[in-house]
Amino acid sequence: MINRTLLATLTLIALPLAAHAQEAADAVAPEATTETAFAGTSPAVQAALDAKQSGQAIIAQDWMVAAANPLAVEAGARVLEAGGSAADAMVAVQAVLGLVEPQSSGIGGGAFLVWYDAESETVTTLDGRETAPLAATPRLFQDEAGEPLQFFDAVVGGRSVGTPGTPALMEEAHRRWGTANWGSLFDDAIALAEDGFSVSPRLASLIARDAERLSRFETTAAYFLPGGEPLAEGAMLQNPEYAQTLRAMAREGARAIYEGPIAEAIVDTVRNAPGNPGVLSLDDLDLYAVKERDAVCVPYRGHDVCGMGPPSSGALTVGQILGMLDNFDLGALGPDDPESWRLIGDASRLAFADRGRYMADSDFVPVPVTGLVDPDYLAERAAQLETDAALTDVAPGEPTFDHALLWADDEALELPSTSHISIVDAAGNALSMTTTIENAFGSRLMARGFLLNNELTDFSFRTHRDGVPIANRVEPGKRPRSSMAPTIVMRDGAPVLVIGSPGGSRIIGYVAKSIIAHIDWGMNVQEAVAMPHLVNRFGTYDLEDGTDATGLAEPLAVMGFETNLRDLNSGLHAIAIGDGLEGGADPRREGIALGQ
Ligand code: GLY
Repeated sequence: MINRTLLATLTLIALPLAAHAQEAADAVAPEATTETAFAGTSPAVQAALDAKQSGQAIIAQDWMVAAANPLAVEAGARVLEAGGSAADAMVAVQAVLGLVEPQSSGIGGGAFLVWYDAESETVTTLDGRETAPLAATPRLFQDEAGEPLQFFDAVVGGRSVGTPGTPALMEEAHRRWGTANWGSLFDDAIALAEDGFSVSPRLASLIARDAERLSRFETTAAYFLPGGEPLAEGAMLQNPEYAQTLRAMAREGARAIYEGPIAEAIVDTVRNAPGNPGVLSLDDLDLYAVKERDAVCVPYRGHDVCGMGPPSSGALTVGQILGMLDNFDLGALGPDDPESWRLIGDASRLAFADRGRYMADSDFVPVPVTGLVDPDYLAERAAQLETDAALTDVAPGEPTFDHALLWADDEALELPSTSHISIVDAAGNALSMTTTIENAFGSRLMARGFLLNNELTDFSFRTHRDGVPIANRVEPGKRPRSSMAPTIVMRDGAPVLVIGSPGGSRIIGYVAKSIIAHIDWGMNVQEAVAMPHLVNRFGTYDLEDGTDATGLAEPLAVMGFETNLRDLNSGLHAIAIGDGLEGGADPRREGIALGQ
């Protein structure tokens, strides 16, 4: 059994709570309460859960880890406590998340990682995104008449499965920045998989909600619906196959997933998926490679907001929103003024218009990365916001670029699943990683104890519009456009904020808003992540139901916005770095921050 007493010694200091953050924490409706979910765990975990419930940040001096499940955070904390690096801790956290939060991320999926290296004082980004199989064609998600498939007809089964990137990314991060023994980083996950863990309220409710789709595949049904019934909250669940897979990865490295019997099991599962087979092959797995990409960094109020460039649209779109808003004094307006939200909402719409036109895998299509975040271009776009009403016409702009560009607008759907890990280690390295299998439970296919992604449905199902090609169409070997926005905010060359979230294309709004809340409105990270959400991507302003955000519905409607009240299930995990470390975990999910 894992020694769960170690973490009881960690220091937790709660910060005083601002009134609006308390209201936010009270008002949001998490899908499942965390009070009972993890009762019986270590005192440190319970204290972190209690702090989150009451809207308080976690304070530490040396290191901190924030992620979506206490068992995963404990695993990371143990690594950091023993002197491991943020990269080491990430491996342990990801291995446990794949077990206890299997619906969101795992070794069957992909991820993006942003790393601040304390020694070289540089930011590096690694792309562990899934790739389209070599046998995939642009018409992968179209019927015989060339019409797009219904979304879930495409998702469920083998067709949507891309070559996983997460195992290779874990290994590459450890190769570059790890200090701990690779094999030992899987110990906690293996022990939990063999001994069993308690099914969390969120996992139980998502299984129940998705039972029909999960029931379509024998292996998946046997695991999540034993005896035909959805696993209940609190049930003890073992996953010996996952333990065996992790033992192989611990022993042989990521190659254990990309070749040999596990690779064969993945390919066999995808190609023989009943009703909807896919085209993934052993060659696709064998050829998979993590790619280092240039970080996209955008100036904002004396900071540099750095994140993942294409194939993610995350850093470019967050950067465009912030770059436009840099031309307005949001600090003076404050979070309660509808004018702040008019500016944020329409800056976001303008950024999403560019995202839909220009952003895709830059290895396949030319993407005007520099032009899209050029401050002059963004100031020109921001001039449209010099009004007092919602924009009536939102169109893509024309960023400078030395390629001829003619792309049609994309309509790819990205539904929220995914998970975010933020870590700072004792050496001052910082890691921001957003990790996913795309939809909740991905393709619903399971092989060797883990779920396989449906990331290929992040491509546009259409290839052209009115004869003009769409940048994010399917192509063999291409990586689907993402919205994941793992971010490290820098000031004077040093990291000051590590942040990211799940949430499909709403990730962009969640991350941008939390950065504004922290930098412009002076909120601590717990207040910033808990604050009610208002998200505008394509015109409709989504306001978080059951929160103070609903009070802005009327003034925004008067300005001309169409508003919609809805649950907005972000999963923000953030660490602010100043004299010490300050951690925040989203009250809408089950995660915590722990530090020492
Ligand atoms: N599948 C979610 C994303 O990559 O944005």
